Amino acid sequence: MLSVEFQIAMSPMSPIHLAAEKQSPTATADFRLFELPTYRTVGDALNAYKGDDHVYVIYPRKVSRAARTFLDGFPGTVLYAIKANPHPAVLKTVWDEGVRNFDVASIREVELIHQYFPDARMFLMHPVKSRALIAKAYAYGVRDFSVDCEGELQKILECTNGAADLTIHLRLALPEGDADMPLTGKFGASKDTAPALLQKARACAEYLGICFHVGSQCRNIGNYDMAIGYARSVVDAADVTIDSIDVGGGFPVSYPGMPSPPMAEFFAAIKTSLKNHDFGALDVLGEPGRALCAEGGSSLVRIELRKGNDLYLNDGSYGSLFDAGQCAWKYPVRLFRDKVEINGGDETGFRFFGPTCDSLDVMPGPFHLPSDAREGDWIEVQHLGAYGQVLASGFNGFYSDTTCVVLNRD
Ligand SMILES: Cc1ncc(COP(=O)(O)O)c(C=O)c1O
Repeated sequence: MLSVEFQIAMSPMSPIHLAAEKQSPTATADFRLFELPTYRTVGDALNAYKGDDHVYVIYPRKVSRAARTFLDGFPGTVLYAIKANPHPAVLKTVWDEGVRNFDVASIREVELIHQYFPDARMFLMHPVKSRALIAKAYAYGVRDFSVDCEGELQKILECTNGAADLTIHLRLALPEGDADMPLTGKFGASKDTAPALLQKARACAEYLGICFHVGSQCRNIGNYDMAIGYARSVVDAADVTIDSIDVGGGFPVSYPGMPSPPMAEFFAAIKTSLKNHDFGALDVLGEPGRALCAEGGSSLVRIELRKGNDLYLNDGSYGSLFDAGQCAWKYPVRLFRDKVEINGGDETGFRFFGPTCDSLDVMPGPFHLPSDAREGDWIEVQHLGAYGQVLASGFNGFYSDTTCVVLNRD
């Protein structure tokens, strides 16, 4: 899989197709650092674009706003789960807003954060890590590790030479919830094994925490209360003192057909639940990924051909539209013709096909666009800032290494 974000940030071979002379006078030095052309509107970006691929857009103001929402409202420390979008411009935006803690999973994520923010605190919350990753992460200053079984705890102790300054976060397996993207079945200690593991971890960790993930795009606020209550029963069964509780990620975004309650309602419910389950005095952590960056990014894709109500595009499910294909998620869309947004008038529900030869490369939608959508028009597929660009492969030679910044908030 091509690592697009690294290419953009670091590769001198990354062609920046957006013409420099069209850059907005409001372009900031910060984004120029990442070689990102900056525009006021999507129309301006399309006007400047001379390439043949799709284009990724980052809206830093939307990322800032989401980060501010969490920093102001979440009842604890906010860790950005960088897997959702590790683009350096996104990282810098959340850092500038005040995020100082990052959930990382691989050595490349550790090194990326270390490179940009040597003073950040990193939490290696992947429950299964290679020995090399554990040792290197410890050398980079990581002290927070998650485990879900005794073998992993043992590995961490061996690879850190029995370090006395570890924070161990025990990852719980939760009962099946109703998140739109469930994360059950792969990680987590069961209710049977977790209490003994918690006792073992208590004996060797300087700080001890409990953590879980309710599933991504979790729109049911009650799932957090259920998970916190579940954590209480495990801690009671273990009869140990813990220092922190990490309520994970999962905070949702309102995609079409998936309305989500306001974030403030999640924060208030989590705060109440922690108090009700006697966790009120602990350090509280949360690991939002999607909710910090989904609205802060989009993909600009071009229609190559129309067949009835099927639109063949220059990006698809092997690119940034992975979840639109695999999960049949609908994303907000808007149409541009001759760089101008077309709205009003009749709309039709379209199905999208991606550019590869594979028949799995289909996004059923339906995506509602002006009925006369045609070859050469551009579609902005919005809310793709999380799990969009980062999932893109280079299958069949179709990919884009072009990213720009758009400063407006629309
Ligand atoms: C350990 C961990 N933390 C946080 C996240 C971020 O989740 P979300 O994007 O749903 O907020 C994930 C996503 O898979 C995860 O595995």
